[in-house]
Amino acid sequence: MATLVRNGAARRNGSEGSRPRYDSRVYDEAVLGFKNYWYPVFSSKSVGRKPVGATIMGEGIVFMRTPKGVARALSNECAHRGTLLSIGEGCLIKGSDTITCPYHGWTYDLHSGVCVAVLPEGPKSEVPGKIRIRSYPVEERKGIVWIWMGKGDPAPIEEDIPNLMQRDDAIVKFRPRVQYGNWRWHSENTAGGHAQMIHKSSFRVWFTRPRPMNLPSQPHVTHDVDGVGVDNGFIPRGQALPGEPKPPTPSMYTEYPGLGTWSPQPKWRQILLWPWLRRFRKSLGSEVHGVSKMMMMLPGVFRVPNFPSASNIYYEWYVPVDEDHYLYAQVACLWGSNPIQRLWKNVWYYAWGKPTGLIQFNNQDLTFTRQTTNYTKRHGITSYPHTKLSRNDDFHRTWRQFASEFARGEGYAYEDGYRAEDSPLVGMVPNIPWLEDAPAETEDKKEPTEQKQPEPVPAGGSE
Ligand code: FES
Ligand SMILES: [Fe+2]
Repeated sequence: MATLVRNGAARRNGSEGSRPRYDSRVYDEAVLGFKNYWYPVFSSKSVGRKPVGATIMGEGIVFMRTPKGVARALSNECAHRGTLLSIGEGCLIKGSDTITCPYHGWTYDLHSGVCVAVLPEGPKSEVPGKIRIRSYPVEERKGIVWIWMGKGDPAPIEEDIPNLMQRDDAIVKFRPRVQYGNWRWHSENTAGGHAQMIHKSSFRVWFTRPRPMNLPSQPHVTHDVDGVGVDNGFIPRGQALPGEPKPPTPSMYTEYPGLGTWSPQPKWRQILLWPWLRRFRKSLGSEVHGVSKMMMMLPGVFRVPNFPSASNIYYEWYVPVDEDHYLYAQVACLWGSNPIQRLWKNVWYYAWGKPTGLIQFNNQDLTFTRQTTNYTKRHGITSYPHTKLSRNDDFHRTWRQFASEFARGEGYAYEDGYRAEDSPLVGMVPNIPWLEDAPAETEDKKEPTEQKQPEPVPAGGSE
């Protein structure tokens, strides 16, 4: 992952085209996601000589390998009468780079999508060369098959995979599964103070003492060694925003005036597990290869350092399938400096990290993504920018704005009239390339009126 807008495409062309200060329409309308990105779909070992089908952004796609082992993707609809190519046997002309429709034998070149034969009509058929179905660019990285969903030339795939995941020494575990829900509602699940509520019953939280978080959270745009995105702005216990008094460390038992006390954990569990807690919490907030913060990146990738175990980095993609489904593509990156350590990391991942983290803990999030999806459907809306929000929702607002500005080829930053100084994100982006790349200031440049945001503080806490 690298820059947001390449080659100074963020333009300052005078005053025309300026927009309201907070405008998340691009995101609100992105029911099927942002097209101009590479998305992870299958593990490499799931794609072979037999065709496999998937739906991404409402488009049916068939994946298959050529005899030389190169993964390819075509539209899954035969141009003749729409039969799914994925229900066929794949290649019927041995050794050729083709896929054949199981109904009437129309046969397509796996690279170009051009119909190259109609088997029952023999070599004299008039169809070959005249019909073409869509072919999609495909790449393989880190044992994952990626697809480019945009119409034009694809961006370099390296721009769409977090830098740390691309490291040669990263051991990558990939766990994709289709879930009910719109992709955006899972991307917005990632902050908002849900951890103390929905995860308190997860087995891994038995080893911690969840408590109410410090307010206010301070989300901001961050550019680090891994990529560019929105940091959810949790303030670690015991730390304060610059210029603000240090808040008291919340007690395990929180007093709510006039109501009583609340604690997410029963007392016996907290006392029993206190020694474990101290060891575990040391890892949270500590750096893994230079990153320590949770961050949401485009096109909808959430990063969590030290999850599912210390010194791992976890990513999850929300790949839109259709309006009501998404591919929940979980990635855990592990590192070990020698074979013994790498073996140990693998054992620990399968014995603890995967079952308690990627399965039990993350499944709790899925329940609530379903709830939000049902809410939007009950009310017949495809976005919910006008529901009631609290300070914990600042992350969602920042993410919606960030995506609306920088979604590749679709965001405001790609419009001719875009004025970087009008962005509500100004002041939150100390080192983002699009500001550095902007052309020299013009006469009608206005001074930014956005209040300068405090310097970022290290984020802490965990889901
Ligand atoms: S539907 Fe595919 S060949 Fe007829
Ligand atoms: Fe969660």
